[in-house]
Amino acid sequence: MAKIMEASGLRKRYGAVQAVDSVTLDIEEGICLGILGPNGAGKSTTIEIMEGILSPDEGKVLFKGKPIGRDFKRKVGIQFQTTALPEFITVKETLRLFSSFYPDPRPLGQIVELCSLADILDRDNRKLSGGQRQRMLLALAIVSRPEIVFLDEPTTGLDPQARRNFWDLVARIKAERTTVVLTTHYMDEAQVLCDEVAIMDHGKILERDRPGKLLARHFTGALVKIPKGCIDGALPASGRMVADFLEIQSTNLDDTMRELLAGGINLEGLSIHKPDLEDLFIELTGASLRN
Ligand SMILES: Nc1ncnc2c1ncn2[C@@H]1O[C@H](COP(=O)(O)OP(=O)(O)OP(=O)(O)O)[C@@H](O)[C@H]1O
Ligand SMILES: [Mg+2]
Repeated sequence: MAKIMEASGLRKRYGAVQAVDSVTLDIEEGICLGILGPNGAGKSTTIEIMEGILSPDEGKVLFKGKPIGRDFKRKVGIQFQTTALPEFITVKETLRLFSSFYPDPRPLGQIVELCSLADILDRDNRKLSGGQRQRMLLALAIVSRPEIVFLDEPTTGLDPQARRNFWDLVARIKAERTTVVLTTHYMDEAQVLCDEVAIMDHGKILERDRPGKLLARHFTGALVKIPKGCIDGALPASGRMVADFLEIQSTNLDDTMRELLAGGINLEGLSIHKPDLEDLFIELTGASLRN
């Protein structure tokens, strides 16, 4: 499939902090790419360089094979991690205002429908709840019919239901073949929305692939975890310590349980689950994403 954006060799330093360190990332048209990583990993800095908001110290960014230029602004929709909305005007007035900035904006009705704004059109921007505000910011990001949308932690701080509602909106935008790049700290969000994920830490991309492929590369079978405190002898041969847990990748749970019992390990607190992106993140960085 065609690449809509290609970034290569991006570097950005702030004083002693190498915020982005040799990032190369290409994005196929129409996919949803998730960038995952702990606080300070360099996610926002990376996407702001790709958005053309920040200039890198080194490296280059191409949009459809050409360096990003003035017309790129019309092709890209951006939802920043933090944004101020104009005060003392309503949602509808704000949408009209932003529409007036573009030559061929989406019709208001379509935006309202896509982003589920019908109930709050007459509300003052200052009175929006967290979830309503995120819907509104997404609407503003897509007013111009962008070909690619960047969403920086769009669901941080939302309650579980509001997060799911937001996922539906992103799915609708994806269904229109708009390319979506989002950053998140939520593994379930990445699992549901993202065709591909890039895992970042300390300014570098550690791994990047389809979630299923990444998991298959790192895990086989079920993941058995036992808290550190339940082990007071030698580790079983099949296990190893990852963060504060003894972890065993088991393809035969009967055998694994027998091995643990024979080793005198206290099974209280044991958990068994299918490995997910959170486990992969801990495996790669030794820390939980939410830390
Ligand atoms: N304008 C700036 N001036 C100085 N340092 C900065 C600036 N912007 C980012 N940094 C530093 O660069 C590093 C990467 O920051 P960035 O905002 O890209 O991380 P992030 O992955 O988006 O984190 P979060 O999950 O907290 O949003 C951090 O150490 C941050 O403190
Ligand atoms: Mg950020």
